Amino acid sequence: MTTDEQRAYARHLAAEAVAAGDDTGWFERLYAAANSGDAVVPWADRVANPMLLGWLDTHRPAGTRAAVVGCGLGDDAEHLAALGYETVGFDVAPSAVRAARERFPDSAVTYREVDLLAPPADLAGAFDFVFEAYTVQTLQGDARRAAIARCAQLVAPGGTLLVVARARDEKDPPGRMPWPLTRVELDAFADGPLRPVEVEDLLDTDDDPPVRRWRATFVHS
Ligand SMILES: C[S@@+](CC[C@H](N)C(=O)[O-])C[C@H]1O[C@@H](n2cnc3c(N)ncnc32)[C@H](O)[C@@H]1O
Repeated sequence: MTTDEQRAYARHLAAEAVAAGDDTGWFERLYAAANSGDAVVPWADRVANPMLLGWLDTHRPAGTRAAVVGCGLGDDAEHLAALGYETVGFDVAPSAVRAARERFPDSAVTYREVDLLAPPADLAGAFDFVFEAYTVQTLQGDARRAAIARCAQLVAPGGTLLVVARARDEKDPPGRMPWPLTRVELDAFADGPLRPVEVEDLLDTDDDPPVRRWRATFVHS
């Protein structure tokens, strides 16, 4: 499968699920198909996110507890655990969680099946550092708005949220999944007790065509 075919298959699954009123069920279908060798997860490059690594060169959130939202196959969570954070990686897709546990059998990360849209009470305000990359941009409408609010609610007082997402201008059409975030949507992470301290609007020319992304840091006041 070429990368374009992988993406097309993911978009096909997403469109089917969303048409059936299920915002997130397609992730399990995709990971399950990948686990049995029938598909490839297009975003799973099996290395920690370079946008996270670059940010960590100059930032080191205080505290000990970290969470990775929509952790997929676990590379970002493993990196944070290796830095010494007591890390929870969670994902709505059981097959993703299973694959992460299998890839890292001796992991210090706690991998959990959790729907960000309905998180268990023990995760609320539980983390000094929350990393969200590319999950919100796969959701639309009410689910997207709820996901933004729920990410913010994971952060403990004094904690930090780092968001990485594709970016677009308000006037630009959302295009196809993944649907890039506008600045207004990015600012909504700070509708509660968080405030933005750094918002980067970056153009990645390694991608062809180049991809514009937000990398935004919020702190809990
Ligand atoms: C585009 S992938 C990005 C995965 C990973 N964060 C990365 O950067 O490679 C989005 C991930 O979020 C997960 N996800 C989507 N909706 C979710 C939800 N409501 N709760 C938890 N995880 C979710 C998906 O299963 C998938 O692993």
